[in-house]
Amino acid sequence: LDGGQLIVVSNRQPYSHGYDEDGEVTVSRPAGGLTAGLDPVMQRVEGTWIAWGDGDADREVTPEDDTVEMPPEDPAYHLRRVWLTDEEVDQYYYGYSNRVLWPLCHGGIWKTDFADEHREAYEAVNEKFARAVREEADDDAVVWFQDYHFTRAPRMVREAMPDAFLMHFWHITWPGWDTFRSLPHGQETLEGLLGNDLVGFHTGQYVENFLDCIERGLDGATVDRGNNRVEYDGRTTEIESFPLSVDFEGIAASAERFDAEDWDAFREEYGITGERVAVGVDRLDYTKGVPERLNALEQLWEDHPEWRGELTYVQKASESRSIIPDYRDLQDRVTTGVDRINERFGTDDWTPVVYLDEHLDGDTLNGLYRHSDVMLVSALRDGMNLVAKEFVAAQVDETGVLVLSNQTGAFEELGKHSVGINPHDTDEFAAAIGEALRMPEDERRERMHTMREWVETHDLSRWMKDVFEGAADVRMKRRMGM
Ligand code: G6P
Repeated sequence: LDGGQLIVVSNRQPYSHGYDEDGEVTVSRPAGGLTAGLDPVMQRVEGTWIAWGDGDADREVTPEDDTVEMPPEDPAYHLRRVWLTDEEVDQYYYGYSNRVLWPLCHGGIWKTDFADEHREAYEAVNEKFARAVREEADDDAVVWFQDYHFTRAPRMVREAMPDAFLMHFWHITWPGWDTFRSLPHGQETLEGLLGNDLVGFHTGQYVENFLDCIERGLDGATVDRGNNRVEYDGRTTEIESFPLSVDFEGIAASAERFDAEDWDAFREEYGITGERVAVGVDRLDYTKGVPERLNALEQLWEDHPEWRGELTYVQKASESRSIIPDYRDLQDRVTTGVDRINERFGTDDWTPVVYLDEHLDGDTLNGLYRHSDVMLVSALRDGMNLVAKEFVAAQVDETGVLVLSNQTGAFEELGKHSVGINPHDTDEFAAAIGEALRMPEDERRERMHTMREWVETHDLSRWMKDVFEGAADVRMKRRMGM
């Protein structure tokens, strides 16, 4: 981006400091696609990352300028921590971000819990982050906002820095107009995002949805459909799709390290006795379709007793946003489902569903992907779903099968070579798992090989390159007054 320091703004920080049982400070990485995807980007460009300092020990280890060097073992960029009060966390993060925008964008208008004080706090926290950006940025900085936590900050920064280059990547789904229109203050949301020069989404469909919302929901905006461009308030914003991906090589190398012996030890440790293994890896969110997946598995074991004792399903789960009742309900439904199935079908030497909620290190997780026969991704709606791509990257032996929900962004890229499902259709889903398990080796290899070629050539570095080339292009047009 010819010069210009890069400033990334995200809610979640890439590393947080906490205390272990002995009161020693430890560093950990949070779950979720966003930070995992951007950390390698930042390491390469040595910029500044602005994020909420949410770790218990963050304040203790952060110097007075609120900035620590990251990653801890090999510092390559600055992490500027923004401090939030408990009330702000409650209202901006748990409230407006995760009880309004998150469910709404995933089509769950019934799940939104709109309250004025949530929106006020959201506005105030966006202002806090905007202030941090103004403090960190020089005139030719490139500021890159991430996700739905910051729909308002771009306009706030824009007002103070009319010439800065601002861009945004939206990591979740952008809903259709009929859903978006139920958001009170929707106009301000759109206006805020149009403070950016460039807004990126995972798929062309989300770009279309966003342009529809602008066209129908924002007075005074002009949408140029041919060029995916919006004119508003005397400024132009370009809207483009950039499907996020994973570090293909890194994952493949890591999976390669987890050999057959490690796998045997892993199976032994967790009591995975089935000859065949299916796997699911999820942050425990109601959008991920975990109860629907358990229903499909239960149906498979019910209709096809030959899979009892033969197939073990490993569910790796990470707890998430547990203060919110809908998330607690989901956790209950998952635990109840797992217990029900295990009680119903389990025997002395076979546990149908092995549930893992502890942290697995990278090689172990990638090894689990590598050695599983089938991966089940059943999101009810998901902006991309990087887990599907991680599985593909880790399949170095190319014999596994991906069962993939048609409700994910990843389906646009991998749908043809996966076994596609509608996660709500339990019969079809159960049949798809059976089909995946019985698929002849030639066909499995051919499909997996094709998906691996795709993810290898459309990996994280390609995404980064596309985003930055797109940004450079828009920036040049701006400079030339186009
Ligand atoms: C999704 C969002 C991210 C978020 C992640 C984890 O991937 O797009 O912005 O960081 O979930 O959720 P959390 O609320 O724990 O940050």
